[in-house]
Amino acid sequence: MKTECSPNVDHAAGFLAEGKLVSIPTETVYGLAANGFRESALKEVFRVKQRPFYDPLILHTDSLEKVEQWTLNMSPHLRKLADAFWPGPLTLLLERSEAISDVVTAGLPRVAFRIPEHPLTLDLLARLDFPLAAPSANPFGYVSPTQASHVMHHFDGAIAMVLDGGPCQVGIESTIVGEEDGELIVYRLGGLALEEIEKVVGSITVRDSSSKPSAPGMLERHYSPGKQIHVVESQEELNAQKSDRAAFILFGLGLSDAKPSRLIQLSSANDPKEAAANFYAALRHWEDDEAVTELIIERMPDFDLGRAINDRLRRAAHR
Ligand code: TXA
Ligand code: MG
Repeated sequence: MKTECSPNVDHAAGFLAEGKLVSIPTETVYGLAANGFRESALKEVFRVKQRPFYDPLILHTDSLEKVEQWTLNMSPHLRKLADAFWPGPLTLLLERSEAISDVVTAGLPRVAFRIPEHPLTLDLLARLDFPLAAPSANPFGYVSPTQASHVMHHFDGAIAMVLDGGPCQVGIESTIVGEEDGELIVYRLGGLALEEIEKVVGSITVRDSSSKPSAPGMLERHYSPGKQIHVVESQEELNAQKSDRAAFILFGLGLSDAKPSRLIQLSSANDPKEAAANFYAALRHWEDDEAVTELIIERMPDFDLGRAINDRLRRAAHR
């Protein structure tokens, strides 16, 4: 199959209506999208990604009206979050309607929805009378893609099209929120900072996913770039790293004697948001460089998007 890589929304809509797969840009990461109401297309997503069927998919659409049409009884709390942050890097777990297939939810009682903030994809979604099911467009367990070229690297020849919307502005997957017994819970830290959510709904519980690996997508050993990863937390720990097979991904710390070609500084302004936007591309940077076998990565401060990056870092380093 020849894979088109272009910003042509007409072509993307055509392919999706035919049940073909199209990678879509979002503000978080690129998704691998299929018609969310067509089981054969949904199964193709799992096959192409080599994703296990027990890991459910997020549905994407462009309006709250459509979300309400395809779900039941959005609670006032969740509605408040939707009003405050959609379109944006927030996924809500909602009660599913009859319209939603078990293939999307892996048989779970709720369905995940989000309205992504990307002009091309919002334009695309507005033309469709079905939602798009889209996991991140990477092979299962690998680093998520934040540029069209990352997706082409994995799936050139395997899918109909990559809708090229440029580099993702947020750079890290959406924050997933749901409600249990009237209490809001964050199931996945992500591109919408906890601090932002708490400004709207007050203090909120983060479910420690490492203690409950059945909370899907939150499997240990995920986001792996195929190198050994070593996390450092201080200048002393960093200075102790002497391997000539290592490359460095740093935030606040410095390294005077590293070769510039072996060092990425995630944010010159020490801004966790800028670091998040650069993080996945940095993890991929040496993927074809066999001389580099080890990534030395600085742990981020635990606020703003630093939290979500640290969560990915822990999983990527997990052996
Ligand atoms: O930013 C994002 O969320 C990106 C872009 C493409 O929108 N998508 C994404 O999808 O990260 P994915 O497949 O990598 O993560 C989906 C995760 C699942 O692994 C699971 O943790 C959660 O979302 N999820 C989806 N549906 C669920 C459900 N019905 N119940 C509980 N968790 C669900
Ligand atoms: Mg993923």
